[in-house]
Amino acid sequence: MQDLLTKIDKQKLPNHIAIIMDGNGRWAEEQGQDRLFGHYHGVESVRNIVEGCAELQVGFLTLYAFSTENWDRPKNEVDGLMVLLVETIKKEVPTLNKNNIKLHVIGDTAMLPDFAQNELQEALQLTSSNTGLNLVMALSYSSRWEIVNAVQQIAMDIKDGKLDPIDISHQTFNNYLCTKNIPDPELIIRTSGEFRISNFLLYQLAYSELYFTNTRWPEFRKQNLYEAILDFQGRERRFGKTGNQIKQEIEI
Ligand code: IPE
Ligand code: IPE
Ligand code: MG
Repeated sequence: MQDLLTKIDKQKLPNHIAIIMDGNGRWAEEQGQDRLFGHYHGVESVRNIVEGCAELQVGFLTLYAFSTENWDRPKNEVDGLMVLLVETIKKEVPTLNKNNIKLHVIGDTAMLPDFAQNELQEALQLTSSNTGLNLVMALSYSSRWEIVNAVQQIAMDIKDGKLDPIDISHQTFNNYLCTKNIPDPELIIRTSGEFRISNFLLYQLAYSELYFTNTRWPEFRKQNLYEAILDFQGRERRFGKTGNQIKQEIEI
């Protein structure tokens, strides 16, 4: 583990890592356990990866914890996840504060049950003055919801005379997204062996590097994170330019 960590170039860390934490249910079922058992174990991975990112001094870590579509799961799983969410957030606040971690939430949080909304508000408030890692929880989040919601707000502002359609640029549009104060992720990780995005940060990932691993989320630990970062550091990000142009820019 130490070995992998020493290979990471601290000057070239991704400033924003986003993770699709997938595979809890299958991990549990593979051991003859209930899916919720997997979600409970997934919390251990969250702790470990948040700590890993804080140690590396990554700027932002976004965790996709619950999608808009996940509301359609069986009621006992949704209810179990909500209780787990609230319990975990409540329990983790002192650790977040100790490690100077600021919590943020993106998503349609109005869909969350009242007790979860209240707990979340309190945690956001209690960590609001921290200046270290920004931990962004995507809860009841989906990209299509976010984009449609942004378009609705833009249309309303135009109707109210607050915005001229001619002024809509990438920057303006960005300001209407939940992620308006969050830079685009450089690295997106998905665990569990699925090769899809599942409605996550569709607009923001335009130039993200994607990393897929077969490891199920409850088994994902710092070492796996370091592997993903090393893979990222071995890539050439061209943003539409040629490889030669990028090399020249590096030399300058
Ligand atoms: C990810 O694990 C957690 C959530 C989506 C809440 P899953 O619950 O999707 O686990 P699999 O993909 O069914 O194994
Ligand atoms: C994506 O996982 C959402 C989260 C990790 C919260 P899903 O398990 O819901 O995605 P699909 O259904 O396999 O695409
Ligand atoms: Mg899944």
